[in-house]
Amino acid sequence: MYSTLTAWYGPALRHPSTDGGELRGFLFGRMILMVSKTDQLRRIRDAVINLQGSALADARRQGGWLPVLGEGSHDAAVMFIGEAPGENEAKQGRPFCGASGRVLDELLSSIAVPRETVYVTNIVKDRPPKNRDPLPEEIAAYAPFLRKQIAIIQPKVIAPLGRFSMEWVMRNYGLEEKIQGISKIHGQAFVAKADWGEVTVIPFFHPAVALYTASQKATLLEDFKILKQYA
Ligand code: URA
Repeated sequence: MYSTLTAWYGPALRHPSTDGGELRGFLFGRMILMVSKTDQLRRIRDAVINLQGSALADARRQGGWLPVLGEGSHDAAVMFIGEAPGENEAKQGRPFCGASGRVLDELLSSIAVPRETVYVTNIVKDRPPKNRDPLPEEIAAYAPFLRKQIAIIQPKVIAPLGRFSMEWVMRNYGLEEKIQGISKIHGQAFVAKADWGEVTVIPFFHPAVALYTASQKATLLEDFKILKQYA
């Protein structure tokens, strides 16, 4: 699948591609730019790999960890945004592949949504030491990458997992006045304006809560039902 690089290159061009998708580009003077979503996401990955001035990126290089960019469908209707990679994730370079990931898989199965049809990422792309909460300056340092990922995928629904991503996403989409504690607004849909149209933000508890509290798991299972209509 291909998508636009940025909106300011000029008039949009669209052509059918051989894989049944669509090539999109822009006429820039006499130059046509066709950049696939995969290539755009690869550029973001390369930028994170080479990120300078971030203590988490330095720790990743020293510790032999991997950055965790995200995985799933580049045309996903639903994009999940967790907090930051844990140890398993930083070893494998994949989001939600440890205990919390197993909960996420179960939640998706409960609504019959295959994981490969959604996109899963985090606000922070490198592992905070000892799995501590991400710091505001770390969230700010990785936010430009997340913003670009969202703009490339253009999901119908953004589903923040946990309070850190809930706050970031709601602020990013002008929903700051609606922010309350996650225990008040989990599972509620907030419609916001994105560059590509309407986006619905639905915050959920972080799947890790289900590892410790059975009632929270029941809440997550109930909340996830709302996603069926979008996925
Ligand atoms: N917790 C997160 O927030 N993200 C992951 O990728 C794994 C655990």
